[in-house]
Amino acid sequence: MPHQVSPRDDGRERVGPLRVGGVGTGRIFQWAHLRAYPDLLDKARLTAFFDLDTSRAAAACEKYREALQIHASAAPAHAEAARENIAELRVCDSLDELLDHVDIVDVCTTARGRMPTVIAAAERGVHSMVEKPMARTWIEADRAARVVGETPGVHCQLNDDNIFDPKYRILHDLLAGGAIGAVHNVSLIRGSLLDATSVLKSQASALENGGGCLMDYGSHGLAGVWYMLGTHLRVARVEAVRIGVRHRHRVLEGDPFVMEVDDDAHVRFLFEDPATGAWTTVFLESTWCGGEIGLHESKSGGQGDGYLRIEGEDGVIDATGAGEIRILRWDGGETRVPLREYPGETISVREEIETCLDSVAQDTRPEFDIEFGADIIAAIGSAYLSAVERRAVTLDEFKEFSREYVRDHGDGEEAEVAILNHLLAPYRRSAAGPRSR
Ligand SMILES: NC(=O)c1ccc[n+]([C@@H]2O[C@H](COP(=O)([O-])OP(=O)(O)OC[C@H]3O[C@@H](n4cnc5c(N)ncnc54)[C@H](O)[C@@H]3O)[C@@H](O)[C@H]2O)c1
Repeated sequence: MPHQVSPRDDGRERVGPLRVGGVGTGRIFQWAHLRAYPDLLDKARLTAFFDLDTSRAAAACEKYREALQIHASAAPAHAEAARENIAELRVCDSLDELLDHVDIVDVCTTARGRMPTVIAAAERGVHSMVEKPMARTWIEADRAARVVGETPGVHCQLNDDNIFDPKYRILHDLLAGGAIGAVHNVSLIRGSLLDATSVLKSQASALENGGGCLMDYGSHGLAGVWYMLGTHLRVARVEAVRIGVRHRHRVLEGDPFVMEVDDDAHVRFLFEDPATGAWTTVFLESTWCGGEIGLHESKSGGQGDGYLRIEGEDGVIDATGAGEIRILRWDGGETRVPLREYPGETISVREEIETCLDSVAQDTRPEFDIEFGADIIAAIGSAYLSAVERRAVTLDEFKEFSREYVRDHGDGEEAEVAILNHLLAPYRRSAAGPRSR
């Protein structure tokens, strides 16, 4: 078993597998994150659980105990580690208590709880990995990034599992290897169909989620595309083509619901290579209403499918299907790259968790770190600002716009609420005038 040493602010050094605490132990934690850990026992142990709703922390703890028992019978070589892990499980009454017992937090709260958790963890010398969207506003993401940046040896990874989706990884390698030369345009849909049950009330809330479908699937899509094109690129400029509410009344989690955030968003992002000035345009449709663009019937935008077309100087890649990627070169010739069967988030979530564990164990900065996550939130915020101002907005302009709120309201919740009120005003029921653009 590899021994890892983790830094703590109390000067103590701990030897042994890393201890992970689950914070916000609801649906995504219980059905995706928790299930990854039994396979990673050599590297880490999930040992502590905290949720504002204690019954959910207790339920997650019980589910993990069962998963360890099943793992112990299926893999006798790991039985002792699984038993040791079962002996150290604890349900915590507070975040503070949890932070006393872990080296890393796996943050699966709703978006509002994420950055305060990361800050509290960093201040105690604890690393973090954070579900998407990483934050509601760029100012809270930036605040947390500064705390993490100023705490030596503490790391924070954005856990956007699209980055670890095998399809995006293959696309990244194909583009980096020059499969279609310089990339000019990318068009994609990320989203769900109108009758999908995956949209939660907390996600359709400006205050909890920082926006609607654009924050939800838009941040997912942007993370995947950014990784695919290369994280050395920067988003220079963002234009809201059409952001609006298409279906104001719907049923969410079994209850009638009035949509007061965007449920359909079409946005253009200009990615720039800082070294050469060359650019790529990304047209992203994120939606809770089913997709519109593209030539294909498959427009749901689910994990492994959804329209995705990449045009370059030497050819075009069609990555819409879940089963294969097709590369057509302008000078003739077609290559088909099969994709292995991908049973949803279970693979990509496991990979994101393992990547974070490795970066903590090796004390290396995660490739998809908190600053990368903060820039994704800034790009989404720029799209909302572009819709309000009816013009394209640069990321630098958006950051300056956000800092003004900090100057006027202080660096805290009041500024965040004010900024969200401004950016999401067009989608409220009371908003006058057209809902789009
Ligand atoms: N990566 C993906 O593909 C994917 C899929 C589904 C959901 N998500 C993201 O995960 C988030 C959670 O989704 P879910 O379906 O698990 O929701 P959920 O409501 O089932 O779970 C969230 C849990 O967080 C708890 N919580 C909220 N604030 C907290 C805080 N400050 N401290 C501790 N606990 C807190 C809630 O009590 C709740 O139990 C969503 O915001 C969504 O964006 C990501």
